[in-house]
Amino acid sequence: MSRRKKTSSTAPYPAISARETALEQFRALLAPEDFQALLEELERPLLPAFRINPLKTSPQAVADWCNWYGWEVQPVVFCPTGWQVRQARTPLSQTLEHRLGHYYIQDAASMLPAELFDLPASPYPLILDLAASPGGKTTHLISRTLDRGLVLANDAGLERITPLRLVLQNWGTVNTAVTRFPAEKFGRWFPATFDWVLLDAPCSMQSLRPTESHPMRSISQREQSHLARRQTAMLLSALAAVKPGGQVVYSTCTLAPQEDEAVLDEIIRRLPFSVQINPVTDRLPAPAPALANAFGQVFHPQVQNALRLWPHRFSTSGFFAARLTRTGEVELPIEPPPARPLRETGQEPLNRSNLQEITHWLQNTYAFDLLSVLETYRLELWHSQTSVFAVPIAFLERFNELPCQMLGLKVLEETPDGWQPAHEWVNRFFNLFHAGRLVLPNEMMDEWLKGKDVPLPVSAANPPAVWLVFDERNRFVGRGRSSGPWLKNLLPRRLIG
Ligand SMILES: C[S@@+](CC[C@H](N)C(=O)[O-])C[C@H]1O[C@@H](n2cnc3c(N)ncnc32)[C@H](O)[C@@H]1O
Repeated sequence: MSRRKKTSSTAPYPAISARETALEQFRALLAPEDFQALLEELERPLLPAFRINPLKTSPQAVADWCNWYGWEVQPVVFCPTGWQVRQARTPLSQTLEHRLGHYYIQDAASMLPAELFDLPASPYPLILDLAASPGGKTTHLISRTLDRGLVLANDAGLERITPLRLVLQNWGTVNTAVTRFPAEKFGRWFPATFDWVLLDAPCSMQSLRPTESHPMRSISQREQSHLARRQTAMLLSALAAVKPGGQVVYSTCTLAPQEDEAVLDEIIRRLPFSVQINPVTDRLPAPAPALANAFGQVFHPQVQNALRLWPHRFSTSGFFAARLTRTGEVELPIEPPPARPLRETGQEPLNRSNLQEITHWLQNTYAFDLLSVLETYRLELWHSQTSVFAVPIAFLERFNELPCQMLGLKVLEETPDGWQPAHEWVNRFFNLFHAGRLVLPNEMMDEWLKGKDVPLPVSAANPPAVWLVFDERNRFVGRGRSSGPWLKNLLPRRLIG
């Protein structure tokens, strides 16, 4: 006989409204001393946090930033690339490194999901992020695989695609494609395909730590049931899309058990022989188990392997995450995915002689070894009328015809004055450009970062048409075109401060 009490998805949960109402409901889920600790934690401001971009920088840089910007930091206990900031003279959002994608500002709790995956055997894993925008956790997945695996970053929201593209472009990822489809479709279109699938599900955001991007609002019981049904359908799709033996992480930024433990309970009930919820306590320095029961519903014992971050556990927002391994069949009706060959979007593979020409030009002008980058990251060059892009070979092999909103990274732009390396490409691989660099003196930096042209500070016998500009701290700060005695500023408008 089942140990669970049968409940429908609407009853017996009470309706949840704003923070105080939610707190009153959550009181029943915590021991009295824990509830007191929670109330005390909520009196303190939430510490801002950031995660570094290992594609561009290293943890050692954090010490410099602390000096330069008057930051006092502490490591995020479950994320080796994350730091919480106790004090900051310069806010996290106002540094050059932030503008250039050297770190991502993210609540510490949101750094948990990507850390739950075990690195797969393949150095080039296929990864699906089903609800990705604005891309915080996608950048983390990319960091964990050092941009070697292909990440399909999907989000169904039309207005959510541009922020996602901008975040990924600034992160400098090459092995990424952005798509816009309902997450529910991927298990039908691409069964047993991915090594990792992340489902950071749309939820009621009852995190107890409202922010501008995560407001807490009243939510009706009906809406909550609707959310839980959608989360379950999306999680089934994730489990169908992952390979047998592959891992799915389910996360939400809500503490409402209806969208957390109850969703996992439903999945385990439906797929008892095909899915396991893995113990992942080794990822945390102290236990943060999910609930054994809530509001009269007793959950399957495996559900307790999930992690429930009450804000007072690690001084974060409220959060929930679980890692599941697919152990057997998860079948959804198969459907053909939508198809639009890449060539129909006005792009074509670069032919051998153009590839040679570009390779030589980059080598001669910038001492940049393009072929080695293409080989390391498994990329192929494609071109449109005015640009050359590095396209992930894994995408061409497995998803060639899947319509996407962004694919790979721009390498070059063709202008009336000839080729110039794309800002995004140099902003990613600046360490591999060994020539064509110039250092702008500190006194010119203010004007430069405002997008102004400045006097060319060097004279060279054989100058490149486009210089790669660095500051005195050796940070890449954009490209500049020689124009007589002037350096014409090519900083993209979105980066002008
Ligand atoms: C919690 S947010 C994702 C945050 C993101 N993972 C991050 O870390 O930056 C949930 C996202 O799910 C998207 N979404 C809602 N319904 C969806 C669906 N049916 N399929 C795919 N995405 C959906 C929303 O547009 C929203 O961007």
